[in-house]
Amino acid sequence: PDLFQPERPNSRGFDLHHRPTLDAVIAARDAFATHKWAATALVAGKAKGNAPVRVDNPADPADSPGTVAPASAAEIETALSSARPWDAAPAERAKVLNKVADLYEENFGEIFAILSREAGKSIPDAVAELREAVDFLRYYAANAPEAPAVGIFTCISPWNFPLAIFSGQIAAALAAGNAVLSKPAEQTPIIAHFAISLMHKAGLPKTAVQLLPGAGDVGAALTSDARVGGVAFTGSTGTAMKIRATMAQNLAPGAPLIAETGGLNAMIVDSTALPEQAVQAIVESAFQSAGQRCSALRCLYVQEDIAEDFIKMLKGAMDVLCVGTPWHISTDCGPVIDETARKGIADHIQKARAEGRLMHELMTPNAGTFIAPSLIRIGGIEELEREIFGPVLHLATFKAKHLDKVIDAINATGYGLTFGLMTRIDDRVQHVTERVHAGNIYVNRNQIGAIVGSQPFGGEGLSGTGPKAGGPHYLTRYTARPAAPVEA
Ligand code: NAD
Ligand code: ALA
Repeated sequence: PDLFQPERPNSRGFDLHHRPTLDAVIAARDAFATHKWAATALVAGKAKGNAPVRVDNPADPADSPGTVAPASAAEIETALSSARPWDAAPAERAKVLNKVADLYEENFGEIFAILSREAGKSIPDAVAELREAVDFLRYYAANAPEAPAVGIFTCISPWNFPLAIFSGQIAAALAAGNAVLSKPAEQTPIIAHFAISLMHKAGLPKTAVQLLPGAGDVGAALTSDARVGGVAFTGSTGTAMKIRATMAQNLAPGAPLIAETGGLNAMIVDSTALPEQAVQAIVESAFQSAGQRCSALRCLYVQEDIAEDFIKMLKGAMDVLCVGTPWHISTDCGPVIDETARKGIADHIQKARAEGRLMHELMTPNAGTFIAPSLIRIGGIEELEREIFGPVLHLATFKAKHLDKVIDAINATGYGLTFGLMTRIDDRVQHVTERVHAGNIYVNRNQIGAIVGSQPFGGEGLSGTGPKAGGPHYLTRYTARPAAPVEA
């Protein structure tokens, strides 16, 4: 691929520090405060659907943004049999995908309302999510390849970036001319339905992109049918492994699986780091989006010599976080996605409390699936048995002479998504970044919020197959590879 990408500006988003802009964003979103959406399968043909079920608002048990009718077996079969690769030249595909990006931006108020009421996104998180979705669309449009498409691509996405990751996978597959069968997370079907409707409105043929909402069984059906040529998946490592096994049994040999999965992300703060800068980066990395980013900081290592004062500062910074409904502009940390997630995280915190390892926690609102940002002491990252997908930060201290042991422990988890380093020693930057196995390494800043086109995002080991999303190698995996020459 051409590493020197064509000129393409990223979305400018909204400057929420500019009062008239903020007021306009809030007014546009508020117009949908009580709206009810009805998400259904969007397939190219007639098929009987399932009965609709309620979609929850994680911040408010009294509210529901609407309903979803999970895809029926008949709708899945209709989608599989009607799917046709997008028969349009790369320039035409680019034009339509750019039109989709324009429609996303024009409909920002409705998008922010859905993201808030269905996924619990705060306003700044919703703004960032829309920007990333638009950037993916325009980036893949600008790089639409000439190479032949694979055929039918199944795209399966998680709830934590229900517009950005959902749109990114689909935009890449479409830019390469594939037909897409999209399966959003069960928690976030409404934003997916809205997005696919805008794609059809922009001129995408219904046979080129179809929507099949539902739970894991719908995803399993769409990854085990021999008509499917490739799968793009973002979600947990466990689900990726199941999909890989299903594909190996049912799909053509060599069918591509692009899997972007979980992480046990660490940061190291040494005694030369600027404490104010480090604390701000830690709070953003661990608690923004209620810790529900795959990139989020889970395990912080602080050099023993500065730990006492540093932890005091960190607790102080946590104390001023505002936990509450995502509808308020002042909210820093909204709810976690649902009751299952809340209970799993609350049990983890309760265990730490019982063992005397809970160092700090904030107050939690009474209603809704909230978890207060919490700080838990651990001996090292090897004590974390799984990714705790919420606003929980684990903290360990280390002696300077044991820095390499810390790096070995981080690498030994087998994950490799993001990593942060806070230091003012240039040689240490070199030493640590050469040794840590992680897809995205950030030095003296937070470790979330990769920018499309500038910071291609993706992990290694248990964190993903590569290639990185929003980078120059990504689209090639959505194209058919030339057949290997036959050995004489
Ligand atoms: P999940 O694995 O539970 O679900 C992801 C998707 O897979 C959903 O659409 C789900 O319905 C579907 N699914 C479940 N079982 C399936 C099966 N057997 N076959 C096919 N599809 C199936 O993950 P989640 O809880 O929705 O998302 C959170 C996880 O995603 C975290 O582990 C997080 O780290 C990861 N994530 C990774 C990235 C990345 O870029 N690396 C980005 C965002 C989220
Ligand atoms: N791309 C998202 C981030 O960097 C997951 O936070």
